[in-house]
Order: sequence, then structure tokens, then C-alpha cells
Amino acid sequence: MSSVPSVSLSNGFSIPIFGLGTWKSKPGEVTQAVKDAIDIGYRHIDCAHVYGNEKEVGAAIKDKIDEGVINRDDLFVTSKLWNTFHRVDLVEKAMKETLNNLGLDYIDLYLIHWPLGYKEDGELFPTDEQGKIQFSNVDYVDTWKAMEKLVEKEYTRSIGLSNFNKRQIERVLDSSTIKPVNLQIECHPYLNQKKLIEFCKSNGITVTAYSPLGSPDRPWAKPDDPQLLEDEKLNFLSEKYKKTTAQILLKYQVQRGVITIPKSVNKGRIAENFNIFDFELDPKDLEYINGFDCGGRFCPMTAGVGHPHHPFENDEY
Ligand code: A2P
Repeated sequence: MSSVPSVSLSNGFSIPIFGLGTWKSKPGEVTQAVKDAIDIGYRHIDCAHVYGNEKEVGAAIKDKIDEGVINRDDLFVTSKLWNTFHRVDLVEKAMKETLNNLGLDYIDLYLIHWPLGYKEDGELFPTDEQGKIQFSNVDYVDTWKAMEKLVEKEYTRSIGLSNFNKRQIERVLDSSTIKPVNLQIECHPYLNQKKLIEFCKSNGITVTAYSPLGSPDRPWAKPDDPQLLEDEKLNFLSEKYKKTTAQILLKYQVQRGVITIPKSVNKGRIAENFNIFDFELDPKDLEYINGFDCGGRFCPMTAGVGHPHHPFENDEY
């Protein structure tokens, strides 16, 4: 049995508050990483079509089920609809491709990865001659209606959103039959998302923090960008609790009720990140970490700047 607590979703299902991220995990490394994670006790794996490694994640899940380590129902699997599949007639096709890649009959949670659409059904990053991403103007509210059908067809148990801002979530809520159960957003002490989390809470939407360690391996990182894991302000907490800065950053999320999905392909670090359920941060230390907030976004979606549905332009939160 896993020692990880779960969070209830508004539709009666529940999600482990801690899972394994797979963004940037190379296909050649991710199968072993997911197998190690399951052996260590992880029961929640976060995936996406655009990560280009769902087949390899699926291979690990299959192995662990075949070995009798887990049953399918012990595992919570998330995936995400990529930006080139927002058009209503493409949503089910994309879902089926993800199920096929993962080798699963259903997943637990399917998210719209971003509110903004790209030119449909070709390359995942369609560009013009200048190298600029080609947009699509499909409204994510229409995409949501197609997402609802995936629940009715039992391809996914739950549906949700990722990288949507407050106003965009409100638009989905206003026109939905099935409410989003989860919002996945970048979240760490430099961008603690306090207001958006409160808004979600008041609407029965759970929140998942991606890049909880500040994504040091993000492809666009520059040498002098701030390094969250190396922030000296975390050192005394590390000493006080005898935990690494990564463990402090992860416990910060879990303790405020935020689900989190650190990525690692290293067995030692996969185990280290999991080892956060044997201590509690004092409330005053949580407040201290809250004080790091500076609106620091490591994933600003620069390629989508100028898109009418860009979530981080012209909106308070
Ligand atoms: P690796 O996969 O080699 O372990 P995020 O989840 O915020 O996107 O961060 C992922 C990045 O942080 C990856 O580069 C990952 O490297 C690294 N990482 C994961 N866990 C730890 C840890 N406990 N200590 C230091 N770096 C870590």
C-alpha cells in the first residue's frame, strides 16, 4: 500500500497528492524511471501526448501490472490534449492515440494542456516560414464540450484544465455540463499561485503544481536564471528539518493541499522526492516560503504570445 494521501475530486474519485512528472523524461530513460517510481510507492503518473514518451511510460505500467506489483486501479494516470487537437472533431482521436500509446483502456484524468490552439492535425509545433507558431482560433469552450464526451464514453474518468487563468476557467464553468475537477499549473515559491488556488478551491477544483522544483532542465533555461533548488533562503529550513531543498519544496505544496508531480529519471532522486511524508513544516515556515513569491514564471509560453487565448497576458491571474 502506498503511504501517499489522496485528495478528493468533485466527481467522487480521488487523486494521490504526489506523483511522478514525465515532461522532459527521455523515451530511453522514462520506462525505468516509472518502474522505479512504482516500486518506491508512487501511484500517480503525469503524462502528456506532447512529451513524446507515452509508449515508454505505458511499457513500464504494463510491466508492473504483469509482475503483480500493482493493479491498473491502484494507479492514477493523467494525460493532456495537445494544442493541435482542439478542434471538436479531433479530440476523441487524440484521446484514443494517448490510450493506445499508454496501452490503457482508460485514464484517470485528461486535461486540456493549454487554452490556446495551434494549427490542427499536423506537426505538434506547426510553424510558418519565419519559424513562428501557427495558431488556430478554436475556442477552448467548444473543446471542453468534446472533452465531456470522453467521460461519457469512459475513455477518462475525469477531465480538467492546465495553464488556464481565472477568467478562462470561469468561461468553462459557465458553459459546462461536467465541471473540471483539476487545474494543473506552474507552481513553486517564486510563483505560489495563492489567488488562483483560492479561486479553484471555492469552485471545487483541485490544483496540481507542475515544475515544483523550478524545472532546472527546461529547454530554454539560461545560465544566469535564478535556480530555485539552490536558493540560499531555503538552506536554514533544510538544516532545521534535515531534509533536502527539493524535499522542502515538495512538502510546501503537499502541506498546502496542492498536488505535485516532480520529474526525475534518477532512482535516488525519485526516492528522495517521495520521502516527504515523515515530517511537517511549521506554519510560520510555510508563511516564510510564501514570502518568496515574485511572479517568477519559468514556463511563460513565449511561443504563444499574441494568441487571443494566451493565459498569461492581460490577466491579473
Ligand atoms: P533528474 O531527472 O536528473 O533527477 P521539475 O519537476 O520542477 O520540472 O524539476 C525537474 C528537474 O529537477 C530535473 O532536471 C530533475 O533531474 C531535477 N530533480 C528532480 N528531483 C531532484 C532532486 N531531488 N534534487 C535535485 N534535482 C532534482
